[in-house]
Amino acid sequence: MLFLGIETSCDETAAAVFDDQFQIRANVVASQTELHRRFGGVVPEVAARAHLRQLLPVIDEALHRAGVKLSDIGAVAVHHMPGLIGALLIGVSAAKMLAVALEVPLLAVNHIEAHVFAARLVAGRDIFPCVGLVVSGGHTALFQCHSALRLELLGSTRDDAAGEAFDKVAQILGLGFPGGPAIQREAETGDPKAFRFPRAFMEEGNLDFSFSGLKTAVLYTTHGYDRRPTEPPTGQRRADLAASFQQAVVDVLVEKCRRALRRTGLRRLAVGGGVAANRRLRESLAAMAEQEQAELFVPPMELCTDNAAMAALAVEKWRSGDFAPLDLDASPNLVFS
Ligand code: KG4
Ligand code: ZN
Repeated sequence: MLFLGIETSCDETAAAVFDDQFQIRANVVASQTELHRRFGGVVPEVAARAHLRQLLPVIDEALHRAGVKLSDIGAVAVHHMPGLIGALLIGVSAAKMLAVALEVPLLAVNHIEAHVFAARLVAGRDIFPCVGLVVSGGHTALFQCHSALRLELLGSTRDDAAGEAFDKVAQILGLGFPGGPAIQREAETGDPKAFRFPRAFMEEGNLDFSFSGLKTAVLYTTHGYDRRPTEPPTGQRRADLAASFQQAVVDVLVEKCRRALRRTGLRRLAVGGGVAANRRLRESLAAMAEQEQAELFVPPMELCTDNAAMAALAVEKWRSGDFAPLDLDASPNLVFS
């Protein structure tokens, strides 16, 4: 049984072919980074138009790489929330059209649940129940994952998402867009202890996150308290700022995961979302997991950032007959069924 997965929630147009044993046959991602770079962030209308242009060629490419025809597809899965509404609607409309034309079931996948499920795909075996951390451009949330489709929220960000903080701090430091990879690169030659930036919500029992104070601290340290924009920092100072900022984010994420493991008594941690591509974070999570005697599941970079292979969570829905109606709505917000 073959599935076609579709992802258009933000600025990656993606399609994948996978089977009912969770084998990924093809995983194609067309990035829009170059289109958005000059705006310093993702512009929703630009993203939606680019999805419209790119989605059908991306689907064709996925089928071609998998060596299958459209008529071989037995179900169509689409990320329908959360995300940019105009962007999501392109993927949802295309998925409905294909499901009707092929007379196959339509499956609706929650993009955040799918980010956790990417770790299951790579593990090649069941990883549930586990603690799940999703750290992306739009979300930062910790879950107790009872199963692939039953996630209980333990904590989430009260303001900026971790990836959003990376992107905004990269702007402050004059490092461009997208910020995560740029800060990681800059931080390689920096001293993570050079600046002592705040770590928020670290009091006992709190599993929520806040990154906007950290971002403001970097802004004040860089440009001074009158906030009049000055030239971005350069040289060693910039590398130190990047490294110290990155360390503050990593410290908070790792510590909250440790607490979530202890609170739930679970011994497995699955991490997903674009920020999970961060090398420093991956290394620190691995060290913490070892101390806690927990298993860590982090997908390779290309399955951390947005992709359609993680829509293979739809196989679980298909197995339980949880099909989506043809009047399926896209939703910008995170809603759990
Ligand atoms: O999951 P994702 O591709 O899209 C959303 O669903 O938001 O995450 C994108 C975010 C961006 O904020 C980007 O700066 C961040 O992931 N990111 C990183 C790294 N690579 C991407 N953040 C830190 N370090 C990285 N290496
Ligand atoms: Zn995402």
